[in-house]
This record gives sequence, structure tokens and C-alpha cells, in this order.
Amino acid sequence: MPRYRLRVNGRDHEVEAESDMPLLWVLRDLLGLTGTRYGCGIGQCGSCTVHLDGMAVRSCLLPVAQTAGRQIVTIEGLASGEGLHPVQQAWLDAAVAQCGYCQSGMIMQAAAAWDAGQRTQQALEAALAGNLCRCGSHEQIREALRLLTEKPS
Ligand code: FES
Ligand code: FES
Repeated sequence: MPRYRLRVNGRDHEVEAESDMPLLWVLRDLLGLTGTRYGCGIGQCGSCTVHLDGMAVRSCLLPVAQTAGRQIVTIEGLASGEGLHPVQQAWLDAAVAQCGYCQSGMIMQAAAAWDAGQRTQQALEAALAGNLCRCGSHEQIREALRLLTEKPS
């Protein structure tokens, strides 16, 4: 089986996996990073969202072979030290999570947009339009985005 060197949350890992194994399973099953969630497995829900070279991607659709040598960030690596990412802080302040299942994907999606300079409520809502929440936390997400975008940065 091929071996791949992956850079995840600032650390190098070597994994042995079939080239078409989705990154989601590498993260969860081989590296134990279970904060990234399996929802639909077909790119439709967003619960598996991680960052690849700063872009939000759906890890259920991304073969591990395409991620070697690139910068991967998961929810476990989003905070820097003790400091939460501004999106994480807003999520806490607005008490967004219900069951929480979809929330790591929501946060990673919003954080990629935020980091890319999309800092209006409208732009962030548009970035999150394809992320699904079966608990219906969308009103609390809107509130978190309001807190985030109204805070001086
Ligand atoms: S699990 Fe990847 S988009 Fe749903
Ligand atoms: S908080 Fe439960 S699925 Fe979104």
C-alpha cells in the first residue's frame, strides 16, 4: 500500500493508505482526529469540512493522494495555542451548538471565509449556504455571525 506524508495541524504524519481513500477516513481512522465528521459521504452536507492550503474542502470527497505535502487543518488545529479562532469564539458566545454534530464543519467553513477576508454577515452566510444542520441551528449561526462581524477586528 502506498505511504503518504501529510502535514496536519502543523505536524507531519506518515500514513499507509490506498490512494483513493478519502482524507476524512485518514483523519478519523488513521490519525484519530475525530472532530471532522462523516455526514453524507457525497459532498452534500459539509460536516466533513477541513482546510487544505487555507481553502475549505469536503474531506469525504478528497483522495488522500491529492493532499500529500499540502497544509491540512482540522477543527483540532484551528485555535492557536490557548486563543480560539474568532469564529470559534463567536460560536461559543452565541451558544450555537445543539447536538453539535455538524458544527466542526460549519466552523471550518466559516473560518476559511473569514481568513480569506470575507468579513460581512452576508458573505459568511453565503459561504455557509451549503452546510446542513439537522438540528436547525441556523438562527443561532446567524447570531454568531452577527457577533463576529460587529466586533472590531
Ligand atoms: S460528509 Fe462530506 S459533505 Fe457530507
Ligand atoms: S447542531 Fe445538530 S446537526 Fe447541527
